[in-house]
Amino acid sequence: MKLTNFVNGGFQEGQNADFVPVTNPATGEELAEVQRSTAPDVEEAVKAAKAAQKKWALVPAPKRADYLYEIGRLMKERKEQLATVLTKEMGKVIEEGRGEVQEGIDMAFYMAGEGRRLFGETTPSELADKFAMSVRAPIGVVGLITPWNFPVAIATWKSFPAIVAGNTFIWKPATETPMMAYEMAKIFKEAGLPDGVANIVFGSGSEVGTAMIEHRDIRVISFTGSTDTGRKVAELGGRYLKKVSLEMGGKNAVIVMDDADLDLAVDGILWSAFGTAGQRCTACSRVIVHKDAKEQLQQRLLDKMDKLTIGDGMDETVKIGPVINKKALEKIHSYIEIGKQEGAELVRGGEILTGGHYDKGNYYAPTLFAGVTPDMRIAQEEIFGPVISLIEVASFEEAIEVNNGVIYGLSSSIFTADVNRAFKAQRDLDTGIVYINAGTTGAEIHLPFGGTKGTGNGHRDSGVAALDVFTEWKSIYVDFSGKLQRAQIDNEA
Ligand code: UN1
Repeated sequence: MKLTNFVNGGFQEGQNADFVPVTNPATGEELAEVQRSTAPDVEEAVKAAKAAQKKWALVPAPKRADYLYEIGRLMKERKEQLATVLTKEMGKVIEEGRGEVQEGIDMAFYMAGEGRRLFGETTPSELADKFAMSVRAPIGVVGLITPWNFPVAIATWKSFPAIVAGNTFIWKPATETPMMAYEMAKIFKEAGLPDGVANIVFGSGSEVGTAMIEHRDIRVISFTGSTDTGRKVAELGGRYLKKVSLEMGGKNAVIVMDDADLDLAVDGILWSAFGTAGQRCTACSRVIVHKDAKEQLQQRLLDKMDKLTIGDGMDETVKIGPVINKKALEKIHSYIEIGKQEGAELVRGGEILTGGHYDKGNYYAPTLFAGVTPDMRIAQEEIFGPVISLIEVASFEEAIEVNNGVIYGLSSSIFTADVNRAFKAQRDLDTGIVYINAGTTGAEIHLPFGGTKGTGNGHRDSGVAALDVFTEWKSIYVDFSGKLQRAQIDNEA
């Protein structure tokens, strides 16, 4: 199968007839070929999006929302098929594939509801016989750049608010996972979304991404990916005074206090550290444990880690799938040496799995380091794989300090039975998302998603907050006095 761009409601080849393979990370099998587009393809897509946007902005928001209801309905109808495509191209186990598609369905219905809200403010004026209000106005053509780890959910966090708010978009999916985007294009078409509202251009960040950021008719860039790339996006976008919304790396921690339910903590850690093979921005990669709970926690963690099944995510009994590609495998593995050299104790894993079907895919053993100190690189840098570092602390205060002592600020969690500590923690943990007695993953779509410090630049995906990215505030004053009334001057009593 050849995956071509989706522009102005039709699938079409780019000007440069270059295609690259899409491979299943579990088996190495080639699944499809995807277009590698160039700047002129972006130009063409922007033209279509710009032409469509004028009309689209005039469609009443509840009517724009009707398309989202239909998109959500189609996604629901095809949930199993979509989850299968997702698992094959991305590698996450099928149960998680279904979960991710569900996240997209939820987002469709949730954002469709916003079509009948999109609230602004109505306020009194400081002058008599004058009316004041603010409304959310569409911005125009927006650019969406999405990662491979959540090929559909993250795209829905961005594209659905863009749609309901009256924008049209150019979406560049990650090169590793174009098939989900292709499926979504089919759904957009079937739902009857007018031509040019949704456009998909496949290709690399350096070519297609750069062309999008530099295009003067794309007013917003919403990006999810690594902090290094995000910084470049912001730098380049800044030159063009673009609104740039960034969601980037994480070094998320679970804190386990001495009064925690340890079995629950173990389950929370395993799910958030090894789910998606650790390839979530929200993945737990540090466990900050009170010294009195450390031995027990480590033992129970190891007992359960040893029972985890690793393999092709299409097998329902498998708990951990492959990582995305060989490069990722090598990057993860390089941290094992780094950790050992820093003096951490490698207790489990630390190896690329080989033999039998493992040789065909990219499999990494669930890994646990103990005796990690907060300043070690394995405790500071995002590894994006199934690796956790156990850091021992002597108090609640120290746990908070260690949690906050990284450049990232996406998600954090604390397991404790003490309600006072739980409330202090939710106040003092410097991350955009905080969990009490649950792991670091599992954000729901109706709340803002994003982080502080090196994780973001103040914007949020999903929730009502997403509308702030895709709308401009417009303040409207209506003077019905029939005479000139000067604000700040004529309002003296
Ligand atoms: C991501 O890893 O970038 O909260 C997204 C979660 C998921 C989304 C993760 N709902 O883990």
